[in-house]
Amino acid sequence: MSNAKQVVVIEGEGIGPEVIAEARRVLDWFATRRRPGIEMRDALYGVEAYRRTGKIVPDETAAALKSADAILFGATGGPAYDALPAEARRQGNLLRIRRSLDLYANLRPIVAIPAVHEASSLKSRVLDGVDFIILRELSSGLYFGEPRGIETLPNGERRGVNTHAYTSSEIRRVARFGFELARTRRRRVTSVDKANVMEAGQLWRQEVQALHDAEFADVELHHMLVDNCAMQLVRAPVQFDVLLTDNMFGDILSDAAAMATGSLGMLPSASLGPVGADGRRPALYEPVHGAAPDIAGQGIANPLGAIQSLALAFRLSLDEPESADLLDRAVRSALDGGIRTRDIMHPGGRPVGTREMGSAVLAALDRLAG
Ligand code: IPM
Ligand code: MG
Repeated sequence: MSNAKQVVVIEGEGIGPEVIAEARRVLDWFATRRRPGIEMRDALYGVEAYRRTGKIVPDETAAALKSADAILFGATGGPAYDALPAEARRQGNLLRIRRSLDLYANLRPIVAIPAVHEASSLKSRVLDGVDFIILRELSSGLYFGEPRGIETLPNGERRGVNTHAYTSSEIRRVARFGFELARTRRRRVTSVDKANVMEAGQLWRQEVQALHDAEFADVELHHMLVDNCAMQLVRAPVQFDVLLTDNMFGDILSDAAAMATGSLGMLPSASLGPVGADGRRPALYEPVHGAAPDIAGQGIANPLGAIQSLALAFRLSLDEPESADLLDRAVRSALDGGIRTRDIMHPGGRPVGTREMGSAVLAALDRLAG
């Protein structure tokens, strides 16, 4: 056994392979230039895996995911899945993978980089200084609650059911994560709920407040109703530091917040589980954009979501904060240089493709590293 950190790479479908190819070139740059102690390993996943092994997540992949120091994940989904049996689809579902690794803390950093303010629908003065993290609970809540399903009632009507449920320990562990995260930043947590209507929201608010009072009185805590939060995100996003949400609210609010970065294509994410007995924390890094089948295979997707996800992996799983800083600076430098993929291009400009954007980041790394 080597001591090298193991990064398991899953390309997935749609634009996944294209954006991961660029993240891989960046990782290669670091592996050869700065750190021989990272080993990359590909794992088979998705429709292709199903064709070859009868499983979307083959056993070997499941084992690799469990033992990895970091998983770098492209994207999953798209029309190819429609042909697969429902049970196979469920087994390989991204939500299941998150759940199987108990990835409860999902971080989505929203940083408005000045060079791309123009790409946002928000005014530049609204974007100035925007730098916050959405911390989304990822392993429970409405997307997992039981009972769930579609039933047919005696009168022939159909009824769809999902259950929004949280236990106090589920709330507290993600809230703890949020308070600890806030201590490394501007010490301000805004916790989102719908306590005026939902009991699960009342419990959320009570538990977050109780944990705060008992252990994190040095952190500023605000509670915000989710509908108001949606408005505040476009009115004055600069007010946020750590935005703590449940699973569904974080899913919805993070798409809206992405606009502050100029495009969903810019947004990275980290999903972290509890620290295990061996001191390792399961961690999956993925761009938030998804498979985008409409532009797959064209070489025009923005790879910066994937590349910035790699920067998060350096910071949170690979003990490489300096590499993370360097990579963040390289991304900014490439953007300062005026290079844009289509999603962040201003009208009339000439966008570059996925590969060229990757090359621009590599060139910036070369420049910055001297
Ligand atoms: C996300 C996505 C996923 C989610 C989907 C693809 C299941 O929208 O990561 O935000 O809802 O978590
Ligand atoms: Mg989403």
